[in-house]
Amino acid sequence: MRICVIGCGYVGLVTGACFAEIGHEVVCTDNDGQKITTLNDGGLPIYEPHLDEIVRQNVAEKRLSFSVNLAEAIRFGDAVFICVGTPPLPNGEADLSAIDNVARLIAVESRSPKLVVEKSTVPTQTGQHVKRALSIYGRKSGVEFTVASNPEFLREGTAVLDFLHPDRIVVGVDDRGSEEQLREVYRPITEQRFRCRVHNDSCPAQKPHFLVTSINSAELIKHACNSFLAVKISYANMVADMCEKLGADIDEVTQALGLDPRIGRHFLSPGLGFGGFCLPKDIQAFIRLGERAGVDVSLLKSAEAINKQRIESFCNKARQLLWVLKDKRIAVLGLAFKPNTDDIRFAPAIDLINRLLVEGAQIQAYDPEAMGKASAVLPSVRYCHDAYELTDGTDALIIATEWPEFKNLDWSSIRDRMLRPLVLDGRNLLDAAAMKALGFEYHSVGRETREGKTNEQPERTVHSREV
Ligand code: UDX
Repeated sequence: MRICVIGCGYVGLVTGACFAEIGHEVVCTDNDGQKITTLNDGGLPIYEPHLDEIVRQNVAEKRLSFSVNLAEAIRFGDAVFICVGTPPLPNGEADLSAIDNVARLIAVESRSPKLVVEKSTVPTQTGQHVKRALSIYGRKSGVEFTVASNPEFLREGTAVLDFLHPDRIVVGVDDRGSEEQLREVYRPITEQRFRCRVHNDSCPAQKPHFLVTSINSAELIKHACNSFLAVKISYANMVADMCEKLGADIDEVTQALGLDPRIGRHFLSPGLGFGGFCLPKDIQAFIRLGERAGVDVSLLKSAEAINKQRIESFCNKARQLLWVLKDKRIAVLGLAFKPNTDDIRFAPAIDLINRLLVEGAQIQAYDPEAMGKASAVLPSVRYCHDAYELTDGTDALIIATEWPEFKNLDWSSIRDRMLRPLVLDGRNLLDAAAMKALGFEYHSVGRETREGKTNEQPERTVHSREV
């Protein structure tokens, strides 16, 4: 099929490149000309594992191209996927101006029938507004439009594999024709009929579920899903606080919780809380949507409040241990909102650093991918080349992102470089007993500090969704 993707952010780029990878002809467009220039020059505006390979290969094989000419891109596609941003407004609601703008442009620029698919995360009933905009602004051309919702469940850091090997594909439609078109678009994935060049052992062997719903349900599914994950993380954080106060161990508790199949083991890792451009904004938008609809959303509000409190209580811990923060040299390991991404939007690390800076601490930081983006928002931080330079002469080290390679650092050497071997592990990345045996003052979240405790801790995975 011929597909147009509007918006070359995380979702749009991964969507466009993956559609090309499974055999479609794709043109991606964006109103940011600089982004398109970067892509046409062979660069990528974001870091996402595997994305560079599949973009390069599909451009070379002539299935994927990038254009600043929105009208041409729209006319090219039988299906147009809207992947523009829906950032939060000051009141927490999603800003839908980009969706509205794109819907009007599609209406005006189209010359042949189009299936218009919302992939951006939008509040329920947005599809009805898109339909109305298409029919009002497209009335002169007489072009026929159908609308569908096809939410994405891509996690940054594993987005390409998530797209090509999903658990489920949700399509919200109002008519059989749109359903058939979307079945066709996804057939290579649902029938596993393409040769995956980036396949690895983490890819599920079974075929994904293909769920057909109403447009309203599809839109709601996305918010409900991300909000549930947010609630689950906040629940784990609340239980971790109880463990800390009452002398229990969160790893032991979540391991037992996770073995109950009704609960599941994913998304129970406590720490600095959830960040990124999806969970925090989606739970907020879902709260506003529920409030407008007159639904009691206090459950979601509590989850959000617990998350906001994570940074403050972690700072309290740092204050207790360091006494005065002013003029203390604090190393922060990890800046991205989670591993395997350079994304720092709503990253707990950034929030944490800002608070420590306010109290006069001297911050130096290291992250394998996110330092470029962080330096733009935190210019007063000293950025280091590696974890060893980072820790030289510091009073404390805070682990804010659980990059897997941090586990394999030479921790004895780090201990010797630090002025005071104090580690505050905000992601429970390291083994408490091993760190103490190495001579560190080691503090993590919700774990028992009893001497001589030797239990093996369950492995925390790279994607931070497992216990
Ligand atoms: C999320 C959803 O998972 C994905 O399905 C959706 O399409 C987009 O939003 P993403 O934003 O990439 O994906 O991040 P995710 O892996 O969900 O993690 C979100 C945040 O929660 C991160 O800051 C992470 O560190 C934190 N987290 C995750 C925890 O604190 N504990 C956990 O157990 C899991």
